[in-house]
Amino acid sequence: MRIGLLGFGTVGKGVYELTAPRNDIQVVKVLCRRELTLPDAQVTHDFNDILNDDTIDTVVEVIGGLHPAWEYVKAAIEAGKNVVTANKALVAHYYDELLPLANAKGVSVRCTASVGGGIGWLSELERVRRCETVSRVGGIMNGTCNYILDSMTRLDLEYADVLRNAQVLGYAEADPSTDVDGIDTWHKLIVSANIAFGISLDIDAIPAAGISKITRDDVAMFRRKGYTCKLMSAAQVAEGFYSAYVQPTLVENGALEAAVPMNYNLITLQGNTSGRQSFFGQGAGRYPTAYNVVQDCVDILAGRGFYCPYGVKVAVLNDKRLRYYVRGAKDAWLQSQKQESWGEAIVTKPVRVDEMHAWLKKNPDAFIAALPEKN
Ligand code: HSE
Repeated sequence: MRIGLLGFGTVGKGVYELTAPRNDIQVVKVLCRRELTLPDAQVTHDFNDILNDDTIDTVVEVIGGLHPAWEYVKAAIEAGKNVVTANKALVAHYYDELLPLANAKGVSVRCTASVGGGIGWLSELERVRRCETVSRVGGIMNGTCNYILDSMTRLDLEYADVLRNAQVLGYAEADPSTDVDGIDTWHKLIVSANIAFGISLDIDAIPAAGISKITRDDVAMFRRKGYTCKLMSAAQVAEGFYSAYVQPTLVENGALEAAVPMNYNLITLQGNTSGRQSFFGQGAGRYPTAYNVVQDCVDILAGRGFYCPYGVKVAVLNDKRLRYYVRGAKDAWLQSQKQESWGEAIVTKPVRVDEMHAWLKKNPDAFIAALPEKN
């Protein structure tokens, strides 16, 4: 396999290093904005040098973001090249174009590193689908949020101080909003659910609530009540109806999720024969992410294409009712949903997930966290 590598940042450099000793996979050209010389590959500033090189059969995209990543990926597929990407935003937003195009051109597209970094989550979903149906996927999919919530819980710190640490350690971006507002988790949930269920979810109907409004006092209250707060994603299918959402969620202190430390991920599926399977590991970082990019290249060499056939577009109906911890604005609607007080905050009666998120959109300074479902 001869690779044109798009991007030489954290992950790109990792891919270059991990493929260098291999005989079966070679990075031959690297698209990079910086001036750079590499011993084993030609560096270019012009994507056309890769696109028009007929000896390159596979493009590895690790630039991130939607543009120009999508234009490059689309052009590569149209030119008959396989694509491996770690870009969850791209796969989530362009799912409906990406797969039909790859099918029409007869090329392979894989994106295992886009969800869960070094965890073999999407490639295992592919195996699970061969033998059973999946009714639920989700979990802790963002290392930055888990690091922040874990530090606040264990060390009794304020959000802003922990966020600064996360930035120093390189977990959070300088502009951390994609992580802390739940958008990164939202992308990963969409990719996971589409593959798990073999459909294409209506992404506009999937809400995401983040963690940026959580305080030390919220965390202290959760501790007193026996809960740990995590940013969780969930997608389910029941009797043909799909639900999907991302939100801070309280888990019982004894739950597996409560024990997930630092910047780790824990992603779970519910299969109809295997039952619950959970996948734990490093959801980000140079070598874990580059590892799964290389695994995808090996899979393509073994003849594997995408994880599932392209499925139909389906609506999302978030009519499930959950109880929520809500701190912040208290308008008439919220007061009418109140079941009990937890200090300054209220805990609601069971309310529809879509209604709670619609309220949060109108009250963006509030903080919400769902209580465990059995309560
Ligand atoms: N910013 C992401 C995280 C990186 O913190 O999990 C991996 O997608």
